[in-house]
Amino acid sequence: MTSLLDKAAGAPRALTHRELAEVLTWPDTEALYAAAYAVKCREIGRRVSFRGLIEFGNACCKDCYYCGIRKSNGKVRRYRMDADEIVREAEWAHKAGYGSVVLQSGELTGEANASFVEDVLKRIHGFGGDEFGVTISLGEQPEETYRRWREAGAHRYLLRIETSNPQLYAKLHPADHSWERRRDCLRALRRCGYQVGSGVMSGLPGQTADDLASDIEFFASEDLDMIGMGPYIPHADTPLGKDAPWTPELRRERLELGLRMIAATRLYLHDVNIAAATALQALADDGRERGLLAGANVIMPNVTETRYRSDYQLYAGKPCLNENSGLCRGCLERRVGAIGETILWNRRGDSPHWGKR
Ligand code: 5AD
Ligand code: FES
Repeated sequence: MTSLLDKAAGAPRALTHRELAEVLTWPDTEALYAAAYAVKCREIGRRVSFRGLIEFGNACCKDCYYCGIRKSNGKVRRYRMDADEIVREAEWAHKAGYGSVVLQSGELTGEANASFVEDVLKRIHGFGGDEFGVTISLGEQPEETYRRWREAGAHRYLLRIETSNPQLYAKLHPADHSWERRRDCLRALRRCGYQVGSGVMSGLPGQTADDLASDIEFFASEDLDMIGMGPYIPHADTPLGKDAPWTPELRRERLELGLRMIAATRLYLHDVNIAAATALQALADDGRERGLLAGANVIMPNVTETRYRSDYQLYAGKPCLNENSGLCRGCLERRVGAIGETILWNRRGDSPHWGKR
């Protein structure tokens, strides 16, 4: 009898909900990761795309109970780079051969923010053109803002749903944060012509294997092009993290769960881009490489100027706080080379799933 892993590898979306939950809890983790890695190699090759990550501001209008830069955390020194700085870092990433950038900040709304971002996007498009991939990750916005940013040169958008379970979502956010509105934003992004990415955190309090299987089914039903997921890591200055136990054993389990989610997602969806999140490296020095070997194909090297990095801490133990962009480039090049993968320099690295649309 062929195992469920073979069945999953044979065709996308081949598993029932029960089977997906079974794959997620597969006892032999090495077999699980190997099966997912084989699918990645077949669909994408032994290749990794790099995206230079620019964390350009940490002011946020949201108050998520788990996030270190939530509005109510008074200990955070708030910053926003000016347009020249953002463009300079994007140019650095372009020259470094990254092929694409991700612009991320806390969520801000309003016309001033919309036109600031629009201006930055036009300037980046001015030197990079459509050859240089531009992803933005700027939270929930009106559809017309998404459209403006798309027209100004952004190609892709990342907006994590955080969990596909609306009841769990409600426990992790204040009452005025809406799961339905967030889902509708993903649909608006699709209408505006973006490659759409979303994802969840794994290891949230109260989250079950059933929830995680539903998360992966949500990725399929929303027909996402890109998946960015990471383990939940408590942050001491947040309501959810302040009294959370955090032992070496828990860290190991949380890392394993993050890798299991990557592997199961690769086995279920086959041809999407999946990021090896930085949060994996917060749990183990080689966390991101292990993410690649469990089926991920994207890494987001930080290109944010060093002096801002420690003010953009969504969770505890964020790596590379004292490194600069050049050091991270060399470090990741070595790490990826060491596991026998090839970096796709100077390429946008679009989601193959998107290419088949
Ligand atoms: N642990 C892990 N991930 C977190 N994020 C926010 N806070 C945490 C945390 N404590 C993730 C959310 C958000 C992304 C930018 O960072 O999923 O969408
Ligand atoms: Fe920043 Fe390794 S990726 S030091």
